[in-house]
Amino acid sequence: MAFETLQVSTEGRVGLITLNRPEALNALCAQLTEELAQVLADFQDNENIGCVVVTGSKKAFAAGADIKELQAGTYVDLYMHDPFAKTWEAVSRFSKPIIAAVSGYALGGGCEIAMMCDFIIAAENAKFGQPEINLGVMPGAGGTQRLPRFIGKAKAMELCLTGRMMDAAEAERAGLVSRIVPVDDLIEEVMKTAASIADKSLPVAMMTKESINTAYETTLAQGIRFERRVFQSQFTLEDQKEGMAAFVEKRTPHFKNR
Ligand code: CAA
Repeated sequence: MAFETLQVSTEGRVGLITLNRPEALNALCAQLTEELAQVLADFQDNENIGCVVVTGSKKAFAAGADIKELQAGTYVDLYMHDPFAKTWEAVSRFSKPIIAAVSGYALGGGCEIAMMCDFIIAAENAKFGQPEINLGVMPGAGGTQRLPRFIGKAKAMELCLTGRMMDAAEAERAGLVSRIVPVDDLIEEVMKTAASIADKSLPVAMMTKESINTAYETTLAQGIRFERRVFQSQFTLEDQKEGMAAFVEKRTPHFKNR
């Protein structure tokens, strides 16, 4: 399927989505968000896809919502026809593993989309921030909720209240990114990581993701109970039998995703 604001490709069991509006530093216009939701729905249904990578250009992952489109918005329009809700749901509820590969600016909605992914691998030149306050608004796609969960209240408050950017090293220290790689190696490194995830049992990877996400939504006791039930349920999977047999027989497991 051809998209105007995205490049989409697959490599083995990995789906790669490249945001592609270089003239606007990948600002998230209505068309881009619509296309992103569509391609994620396709990857969700495609049983040959086991992991997805979202990336941008070297200069910008995404510089936020498209301010030129948003400028004339009214409360009632945004409330009645929320242009983003479908896409934010499509990313945050995507049930297969999804990685953000961030080079350059990840600002506003760009930082928020990256945080909706399961983890972020950053290039050395990455810059994260929630500069919405400089536009007379606040983050509106999860920034005030996810950022404090990931980097703590003090840093989240400072970033959202000043609008300042955080470089890759600070983002890694703060726990926002899982690791930093050289700019020119970003895609290769992230695709390697994604391929290693896509080689695992997909239902087990999906359950692992669901269980970790549950940690952000429940008490510890509820989360532990959820994890235990899901772990026990995995003993109904052929992949559990295969994975453990392969270990005992000193061979590589061949998972069937069932
Ligand atoms: N929306 C629309 N267009 C954007 C944009 C955005 N978020 N960010 C950059 N652009 C456009 C610029 O207008 C410019 O276009 P023209 O050449 O037609 O003027 C082009 O992209 C290149 O940008 P700059 O010339 O500004 O590039 P720079 O290297 O000098 O600066 C930057 C880069 C610091 C990222 C700067 O572009 C910038 O501050 N962008 C806006 C960042 C921002 O405020 N993001 C938050 C958006 S609101 C939001 O996201 C709400 C939400 O929570 C959902």
